[in-house]
Amino acid sequence: MLLETENLAVRYPNGAIGIEDVSIRIETGRIVALVGANGAGKTTTCRALSGFLRTEGAQIVRGKVVFDGVDVTGREPHRLVKAGIAAVPERNKVFPNLSVREHFLSAGMHRSGAEREEAVEFGLHLFPTIRGRMKHSAGTLSGGEQQMVAIIRALVSRPRLLIVDEMMLGLHASLQRPLFEALETIARDGTACLVIDESATRTVTTAQYCYLLEGGRITAHGNSADFVNTDLFGISDIGA
Ligand SMILES: Nc1ncnc2c1ncn2[C@@H]1O[C@H](COP(=O)(O)OP(=O)(O)OP(=O)(O)O)[C@@H](O)[C@H]1O
Ligand SMILES: [Mg+2]
Repeated sequence: MLLETENLAVRYPNGAIGIEDVSIRIETGRIVALVGANGAGKTTTCRALSGFLRTEGAQIVRGKVVFDGVDVTGREPHRLVKAGIAAVPERNKVFPNLSVREHFLSAGMHRSGAEREEAVEFGLHLFPTIRGRMKHSAGTLSGGEQQMVAIIRALVSRPRLLIVDEMMLGLHASLQRPLFEALETIARDGTACLVIDESATRTVTTAQYCYLLEGGRITAHGNSADFVNTDLFGISDIGA
């Protein structure tokens, strides 16, 4: 098992319950979907896995995160990146004033130059339009291009688990195909993906395994095929 959380609970400083009981498992090279309504705790789960709870003043109050057999609960983001977890956040996916090239040059510093260059090439192969944008400020790119840059940047650290929070939020439906196909290629290359999206349709059908988060708790999980054409996610278009 690559990643395992056990009964994870998170509190924000104002007393808000971020998540109450989240146990998920992700195997190497698999695509796993985390689905849930607004406020269900998807982003909080991401933050717990990527170390970004601290920036919100939040903390894990119960449970643990085990990555590759090692307890990494509460580690800082840079240590988790080194361990092999890279996350694309739900908002502020890029630094608007940095060029695209600078995004890639400033990532994965614990990796060798050759490893990072190879990862950038792999990413540009996934998203060829970004090749022509290397000198542009990331803030001038379209939302879809920014998502692509954020994903490539995450890949530069050569993660074993890539987490993408809000894959399609605010993006045109025509981007579903390139973005989700890229995840499939990334997973085939050996990097597991945890994907979160407000619209469950493509997420569930792309993933092999799904978790449903409701009110901070995992209330259902199983193979994606078992969820298609059910109304478990409260979304009627699954499987369309
Ligand atoms: N920075 C924060 N400070 C206080 N409470 C927060 C903070 N971030 C999230 N919460 C609370 O934690 C709970 C889970 O929120 P979270 O953002 O994880 O949900 P989500 O599933 O990502 O929702 P969305 O679909 O809107 O992104 C909510 O009750 C929310 O109000
Ligand atoms: Mg969120």
